[in-house]
Amino acid sequence: MLRAYASHWGLVTGASSGIGAEFARQLAARGMHCVLVARREDRLGALARELEAAHGIRCEIVSADLAQPHAGRELLAEVSRRGIELELLVNNAGFGMVTVLEETDVGRALELLQVNITSLTELTLLVAKEMVQRGHGGIINIGSVVSFQPVAYMAAYAASKAYVLHFSEGLWAELQPRGVTVTTLCPGTTRTEFFDRSGVPGWAERKRGQDVTAVVRTGLKAFDAGRPSVVSGWTNYFVTLAVRLATRATVVRWSLSIFRPRRT
Ligand SMILES: NC(=O)c1ccc[n+]([C@@H]2O[C@H](COP(=O)([O-])OP(=O)(O)OC[C@H]3O[C@@H](n4cnc5c(N)ncnc54)[C@H](OP(=O)(O)O)[C@@H]3O)[C@@H](O)[C@H]2O)c1
Repeated sequence: MLRAYASHWGLVTGASSGIGAEFARQLAARGMHCVLVARREDRLGALARELEAAHGIRCEIVSADLAQPHAGRELLAEVSRRGIELELLVNNAGFGMVTVLEETDVGRALELLQVNITSLTELTLLVAKEMVQRGHGGIINIGSVVSFQPVAYMAAYAASKAYVLHFSEGLWAELQPRGVTVTTLCPGTTRTEFFDRSGVPGWAERKRGQDVTAVVRTGLKAFDAGRPSVVSGWTNYFVTLAVRLATRATVVRWSLSIFRPRRT
């Protein structure tokens, strides 16, 4: 559990846009100092200035490419060099890929695994060890509604998010009695740059995706309650329940229709 938000430090990866930027806004509104991490430093700088002016908190920005091996370890070394002790870690950075097999960029798929799984794991384990020693702290990892099912045409992404949920829930059970909360926030379609960068521009708007404000509020509420995971939005929650009632083959065949390219 957190000692408190106010006057303690939280680190948000992927803070340059979307859900990560909103996490930083809501944490800063609670009085938390923020370490903002992503590759687009100009955006991090603008957000830092906005939050410092609006809430009187301190922000540090760190430019990091989490697709690089050991980026998590190097990021934490930089945070420690700046004399910062983390009370909260939000592992939000991530990206998706929606493609047919023939057009799949294998190198990009491996980068996806590095960002969504490997760097998240490295950051979580290293930070959790310190928090357990201190007996307090918290971690919020971002899963997805697709953490609960396989999805055709975004198989690697959906599998990466299944990993995030299972990994984080395992740690939740282990660490909750030792004073550290690990909560996984599983959003459904949310209006960010995510789908524009994943190969299906405009998807989130067409599907009337949720607003980031509500998604992050849901995540923080679940975290404050010490819950292992939460799905954002009632419809999304019912979908994650419904897929448990059907056979796995039915579920994954159904997913074919979601992102099926028009020409196939
Ligand atoms: N939007 C949705 O519908 C949805 C649904 C479920 C789950 N999610 C999850 O929510 C999280 C946030 O996504 P979003 O919707 O807010 O998308 P977004 O607006 O595209 O933001 C993604 C963030 O991740 C960062 N990032 C991506 N690759 C990175 C790398 N190699 N190194 C460091 N940072 C990297 C980006 O920063 P830079 O490009 O500046 O590095 C950006 O700040 C992701 O984990 C995503 O999988 C999104």
